[in-house]
Amino acid sequence: MTERVTIDPLTRIEGHLRIELETEGGVISKAWSEATQFRGIETIVQGRDPRDAWAFTQRICGVCTTVHAIASITAVENAIGSNPPQQALLIRDMVMAAQEIQDHVIHFYHLHALDWVNVADAVKADPEATVALAKAIGSTWKGNTVERMQAVKDTVQSILDSGQLSIFTGGYWSHPDYRLPPEANLMAVAHYLDALEFQRSMIRINTVFGGKNPHPNFLVGGMACTLDPDRSESINQVQISEIQNWVNECLEFVEACYVPDAKAILTFYPDYFDIGASSPNYMAVGMSGAVFAGDPNQTPRYPTAMMAIKPGVIVNNDFSTVQPFDPKLISEDITSAWFTYTGGQSTLTPDQGETTVEYTGPNPPYTWLGDSEKYTWCKAPRYNGLPVQVGPLARVLLAYAQGHATTKALVDDAVKLYGISLAQLNSTAGRTLARAVECLTTAQNLVNETFPTFVKNLQQGDIAVFDPSKWEPASWPKGAASGYSFVEVARGNLSHWVTIKDGKVSAYQCVVPTTWLAGGRDENGEMGPYEVSLAGNGKHPLVDSSQPLEPLRTIHSFDPCMSCAVHVLDPDGEELQVAVS
Ligand code: MG
Ligand code: NI
Repeated sequence: MTERVTIDPLTRIEGHLRIELETEGGVISKAWSEATQFRGIETIVQGRDPRDAWAFTQRICGVCTTVHAIASITAVENAIGSNPPQQALLIRDMVMAAQEIQDHVIHFYHLHALDWVNVADAVKADPEATVALAKAIGSTWKGNTVERMQAVKDTVQSILDSGQLSIFTGGYWSHPDYRLPPEANLMAVAHYLDALEFQRSMIRINTVFGGKNPHPNFLVGGMACTLDPDRSESINQVQISEIQNWVNECLEFVEACYVPDAKAILTFYPDYFDIGASSPNYMAVGMSGAVFAGDPNQTPRYPTAMMAIKPGVIVNNDFSTVQPFDPKLISEDITSAWFTYTGGQSTLTPDQGETTVEYTGPNPPYTWLGDSEKYTWCKAPRYNGLPVQVGPLARVLLAYAQGHATTKALVDDAVKLYGISLAQLNSTAGRTLARAVECLTTAQNLVNETFPTFVKNLQQGDIAVFDPSKWEPASWPKGAASGYSFVEVARGNLSHWVTIKDGKVSAYQCVVPTTWLAGGRDENGEMGPYEVSLAGNGKHPLVDSSQPLEPLRTIHSFDPCMSCAVHVLDPDGEELQVAVS
């Protein structure tokens, strides 16, 4: 018998996501991914000064913050021909790396770990055995002491005794599929709390370079901060020494805590390498943190470790062939989304893209959206007509296929540990593992290359962070000028596309990682990546529809950011669940 299950809102993500499912006999047979908020930022920036667009687009999201600003200034610079000095680009790279590492750590511990870790069970653990377990899995984290584990155990006990679960409210703690022994649960809860502290302190890097966080300050043509080792009001030697400590702490936390935890927890859930396989196509323009003004195949502004792999696409799990990437093959399909295109098309390339809403759904409250052709505010991006996965898994697979040595070693280790094939990384567990792997290479790039290069340049007197030659609109190309950017951010491939006319933005499109992943069915009836991961093979488990833990694990493995995929506030600043026309 078919049962209909709705998860709304799906929590421990950024923003509002609704998932509708049909199940039969404990497995999912159909799935719909539904964004229930409309995004309006692309229309808000029209008619504005393109030098201001970053400040608006950065507010697409309170989690991804920096990345939309960097994508925006890079697209505008591409359009007007501005060339920021290398030090400004290096600062942006550091800001991006810090944001990405923070994002991955928050995702693993605070948004995803409780799908695998039973907090309530941690009180049954023996603190000494917990420390021994941490050692056994290779965790060298400084917080692994008996005193600390006892203190965390006592804290969890007092929370349970109080009956008010605070940040742990709403978990499915009685679900039978929590498999970790009590000691692993206690260790993970201790690291969850340590990660809260870590993510707060490490993001100070962005407050130094951007004045504040979230939403640091940026500048078309460079950066808004000043560098001068000899001046107290500029970024000087004192701050450089502090940043050195912070980047070291980043690498230490990822190496000593995050990666061993992720690897160890997944050993208890090996079947999740066979659950949650999504679209077998993967796209990335570089490693995480790669930034391109214009076509990523052209010579970059300056080479970085993040460009150690070429832009490429893997199609149909053929890891032996990396196909060249062509930005012209990206389009956005609105077959299942509440938008309309002027020419009546169902798909447009982003340089010609439009954001015109046409809500045809029911007035809320509603019970089911998936029976209509249109059921979401999320467009469905396609590459050469195909749904593709973007994000850590795509980047790791592309790096592996191109022989990137560090990635290859990490992946080969993991493949051996779990006894899986490369193709099985296309799974719920694989996406979670890939994120940890890439967080390590990101931290290594920050510590070993980006930061030292910046310091070396500074020591040689390179303090320029701004290209003033294209600041004045009179210096911009006459008539219309178009530009775009590609950036590899925490959740995947992000591109911004801008057209400037008479000194103002005349068209603006953002093609966002979560849009790539959360979009619905296209004109060919092909599901989007979230939907495929749940209903692609008819085998995804959902044992108890009142505690839908299994689909939560799978959707969380993508790290959804719905504010990035769609967003709007009403005139009073209240979030609208559904905009009604
Ligand atoms: Mg868009
Ligand atoms: Ni976001």
